[in-house]
Amino acid sequence: MKLSKARAHTNIALIKYWGKADQALILPATSSISMTLAAFYTDTAVTFDAALTADTFTLDGKLQSPQAAARVTQFLDLVRQRAGIATFARVQSDNHVPTAAGLASSASAFAALALAASDAAGLELTPTELSRLARRGSGSASRSIFGDMVIWHRGTDDGSSFAEPLPINPKLDLRMIAVVVDDMPKSIGSRVGMQRTVATSPYFPAWVTANEAAASAMQQALADGDMATVGALTERSAMMMHASTMAANPPFTYLQPVSLALFDYAAELRVNGFQVYATADAGPNVKLLTTAQDADRVLQQVQAKFNVRAVMSGPGPAARIID
Ligand code: PMV
Repeated sequence: MKLSKARAHTNIALIKYWGKADQALILPATSSISMTLAAFYTDTAVTFDAALTADTFTLDGKLQSPQAAARVTQFLDLVRQRAGIATFARVQSDNHVPTAAGLASSASAFAALALAASDAAGLELTPTELSRLARRGSGSASRSIFGDMVIWHRGTDDGSSFAEPLPINPKLDLRMIAVVVDDMPKSIGSRVGMQRTVATSPYFPAWVTANEAAASAMQQALADGDMATVGALTERSAMMMHASTMAANPPFTYLQPVSLALFDYAAELRVNGFQVYATADAGPNVKLLTTAQDADRVLQQVQAKFNVRAVMSGPGPAARIID
């Protein structure tokens, strides 16, 4: 019984993924671009064991109920199908997200599970195949297979929707600061939030067109090393995503007053000469995209002004098998 252990880092999208074109296959409505983060990752160990009568899933040392493990089991079914096995598995996962970060993520979780489970099942998948597999667990996990800057091509079917590394101009030395506004679990998960937006928001079609154009512009800005454009596109993609949820029926938003105050503060810091831009995902926490040069000062000033916890990270490596 081979035990395989994998580590995958979480990622934060500069150009967001929001809304599916296909629910079952998790094909996104638009392409997205993210930065993998060194500081936050998940370690997952998988063993397929003929002695087991069901999958078991232990998270941060706690055995999870079958209900909580259902998404893991569904994912393992994909791996079993592909490997032609029926054996149940023991899955042990540990999230290494500093408790202060408040950004536990399904991206690192399903990327680590995809790598560990496929390796334990004897499958030898290419990085592209791994990305397509991880995508089936959680869309953003397709991007966590790779390090540094990553693009997830939306594609049109299971074969063409995968992520790959996006080379960027080396003069961009980027940092991400995760600011904790609220570390309570979100009330509307991304899956449900996306569905409601796709089904009811009149802004959704506009979001798809504008965000796809932003993804193209972002590739150019990253290649040029144009930080001001990279930052502006990052803020706008986030704001367009959040606008699409506010126009859903019933409307909802993940942002809190402090989240918006942080967007304003990033603009104020820019006036004072700092290169810093805000983004936010399916929750109130704000992530600040900045440069290695400005990161320490920005972190200090944000902590002092808002009295919040914040953690900084640089770009992180691709998912890999560890001992
Ligand atoms: O992969 P999911 O289903 O957790 O969706 C993530 C969606 C956002 O985090 C809001 C945006 C993104 O591109 O990561």
